[in-house]
Order: sequence, then C-alpha cells, then structure tokens
Amino acid sequence: MEKKMRDLEDELFPSTPGKVKIERAHAMNRQFHRCFASTSTMFLWALFLIALTASYLSFQSFVDTSSKYFTASWGGLHWERQVRASALPRRSNGISVLVTGAAGFVGSHVSIALHKRGDGVLGLDNFNSYYDPSLKKARKTLLASHGIFVVEGDVNDARLLAKLFDIVPFSHVMHLAAQAGVRYAIENPNSYVHSNIAGLVTLLEACKAADPQPAIVWASSSSVYGLNEKVPFSESDTTDRPASLYAATKKAGEEITHTYNHIYGLSITGLRFFTVYGPWGRPDMAYFSFTRNILQGKPITIYRGKDRVDLARDFTFIDDIVKGCIASLDTAEKSTGSGGKKRGQAQYRIYNLGNTSPVTVPTLVSLLERHLKMKAKKNMVEMPGNGDVPFTHANISLARRELGYKPSTNLEAGLKKFVKWYLSYYGYGRSNAGKNL
Ligand SMILES: NC(=O)c1ccc[n+]([C@@H]2O[C@H](COP(=O)([O-])OP(=O)(O)OC[C@H]3O[C@@H](n4cnc5c(N)ncnc54)[C@H](O)[C@@H]3O)[C@@H](O)[C@H]2O)c1
Repeated sequence: MEKKMRDLEDELFPSTPGKVKIERAHAMNRQFHRCFASTSTMFLWALFLIALTASYLSFQSFVDTSSKYFTASWGGLHWERQVRASALPRRSNGISVLVTGAAGFVGSHVSIALHKRGDGVLGLDNFNSYYDPSLKKARKTLLASHGIFVVEGDVNDARLLAKLFDIVPFSHVMHLAAQAGVRYAIENPNSYVHSNIAGLVTLLEACKAADPQPAIVWASSSSVYGLNEKVPFSESDTTDRPASLYAATKKAGEEITHTYNHIYGLSITGLRFFTVYGPWGRPDMAYFSFTRNILQGKPITIYRGKDRVDLARDFTFIDDIVKGCIASLDTAEKSTGSGGKKRGQAQYRIYNLGNTSPVTVPTLVSLLERHLKMKAKKNMVEMPGNGDVPFTHANISLARRELGYKPSTNLEAGLKKFVKWYLSYYGYGRSNAGKNL
C-alpha cells in the first residue's frame, strides 16, 4: 500500500526533474492529453456560455434602450383613425401640422392655438422624465379635451415618422421636441445628442422623403448667442461661442437644417426663443421653481455674475411666442423638393423671438413676491460656470418686419397669469404647491 502510494507520488511528482521512465512518460502524456482535452472542452463550453450570456444581456439592453426611446404604443386601425381625425383641418385653406414636443410647454400652447383657428394638429411626444411627466400627461389631457391627439413616440423612431407621413400629407411640421435646459447637460449629455441632433436628423430625413414635403418651423434658442457681449443680439451676429452643450446642439441644428434646405429643398424657419414663461410652463425654469419654493417657505438660489452683477433675461410671454410660431407657419413657403430631390431654391430663415426688454433676476423675484404676497428667502450665489450666460437681449426687428411679430405682454402681466395658473393647478395650500414636482 505504502509502495503503491510512493509509486503514484513518484509518477505525479518525480523526485528528479526529467527523470521519468519512458512508459511512465507515455502514461502521463495520455493523462495529460485526457486532462487537456477535457479542460479544453470545458473551456469551449465556458466560452460558449459566456457568449450566450453576453448576447442575451446585449439583446436585453437593446430591448431596454429601444423601449425607453420607442414605446411601441402606436399602430392599429383605431390609432390611425385618431391620427387622421386630429390632423384634418376644419376650415378651408387650413393647414395640417405635425407638432413635435406637443406635450411640452410651448408645444401644447401652439397646438391649441392652431386647433382653435381650425387647423389640423397632430402631436408627437416621448413624455420623457426630464421633468415631471405627469405635467406632460396633464397637458396631453388638455389637448385631448380640444380634440388634439398626441402620439406617444420618439422623433428618432423613423418607422413611426414614415407611418405618420404615410397616413397624413402634413403641410407643415412645427418641431419643438428637444432636450431643453442648460445645466442638465452636465448630468446627461447624451440626451441632448439623442433629441437635438440625432432626433432632428431623423425628422428631417422623414420630411425630405415625404410627398409632399412639409415646410418646417423649428425651435432653436437664444442660447446660440453664447458668450457674445454685443447687445441686443441680432440674427446677423456670429454664433460660434456656445457656453453650454445645449447651445452647441441648437447651433448644430441650425447648420443641419441649412444643409437639408440646401440639398433637399426643404423650406425651413428656425426660431431663437428667449426665456419663454407662462401658464403650463416648465418646472426646471427659475421663475417656476422660485414660485414653488416661495410658496413652500424654502430658500431660493439667485445667481450673480462677475463683480456681483445681476443676471438678466429677456423674458418672453408664451402667448407672444405662440403668435411668432404661427406667423412663421403662415409665412413659410412650400418646400421645393420631391422624391428626396431638390427642384429649386427653398426658403431658409432664422428669427429672434424675444420681448426685447431684459429684466434682472432680483426684479423677477420681487414681482413674484408681489403676486404671491409672500417674501422669498434669498440665497445669493456666484454663478457657477455650468452653461448659464449673464444676460440675453433680443433684437426683434427682423421678426417684426417679416412676421409682424409684436410682443405685447410685459413680465409683470405675464407673471400674474402664470401665478394664477400655478395656484389653480397645484392648489393654494403651501403643502400642496408643487405636489407633482
Ligand atoms: N422654454 C424656453 O424658454 C425655450 C427657450 C429657447 C428654446 N426653447 C426650445 O423650444 C422648444 C420647446 O421648449 P419647451 O420649453 O416647450 O420644452 P419642453 O421640455 O416643455 O418641451 C419639449 C417636449 O419635447 C419632448 N421630447 C424631448 N425629446 C423628445 C424626443 N426625442 N422625441 C419626442 N419628444 C421629445 C419632451 O417630452 C417635451 O414634452 C425646445 O426645442 C426648446 O429647446 C425653449
């Protein structure tokens, strides 16, 4: 027994390296091959399993990603009927408009205004959670009460867009869907590329291929003026010093739309909105969050520029912006392409839509205090370098001349309307204010 053990030990661990008897060597070789063969089989199996798991996981993440962006909640006869009915104009010579971002702040207002004058309106929105989606759902319900249908989908969904253009020969597209907000780009830069660049290109591709091609009016932003210091900002000023990724994607949008105009004959109008505010507004904007915090007795943070200079914005009331959007749609010439080919020079325009009377942020706060009849707890902080610019001020002479654009609501009157809406929507009680935020 002892000897057997020693022989086995010898076999496995020869006392002198290299000193292995030939027949033993053969036996060891066989064992080694058996062992290697089974190890390599195991290795292959392991590889196979890893590959299987990896492809399953990547398929899952593909499903997750696409379902995140493309909720397939569209299709079917009933759905098509709703699309057609909503997009059908109810007046002679009415236009038929696809409004992207229709569940958003500006989109919901523009949709209702168009519908009220008898135009056909179909909304499209992905209801993302950049800010409280229940506010977007509430806007959708409001639109539905007017007879406007909002399709839940993403502008990156080329199949959906092709289907919509298949069902409806839209005469116009009002493109307002975008990742808005300046500071959020630090947290989620890709959402800006997804919606403002990739989404824009997907939409333009759909418009290019549509027959007839629609005329497009879309929202750029005053943020393209970036670090410019010459005021007021004019459309002819250079816009090559963006201060945020948001601004950079809007600037890119202006270049991209120019290309589609040049190559495919799409009629395009870009609108540079200046700080839009009003009822059904955006909770991420200062006037909105200040209102919520003042009502809840929470402090508000007011940024100051270099040398303690107050920040100022050319606040523009939503009704004025809506008038500018509709005037742009009404003056838009037809696209000239067909079958994806340009048949002649098409219109390309860019306009500032502002109020042309900037107001400092502390003045905004005192107006809110007056309307809310409450004092704000102010926390003055130096502006961090995260994308904000110190001031904006629009020169609107071009829009006045060519669109008849004439803003008529000053900040005091506009905030009064906003506060009235805010209190009716969120309730008067302090604890209720901002319940959905
Ligand atoms: N409100 C302002 O002060 C202001 C200023 C300058 C420019 N703009 C521009 O005006 C437009 C409208 O702004 P808003 O204030 O109404 O913003 P908003 O966020 O309220 O509206 C945008 C809507 O687009 C939707 N959306 C975003 N990405 C989408 C996608 N990939 N597919 C489908 N839907 C998508 C969102 O869910 C949202 O409902 C935006 O293009 C914005 O960049 C707004």
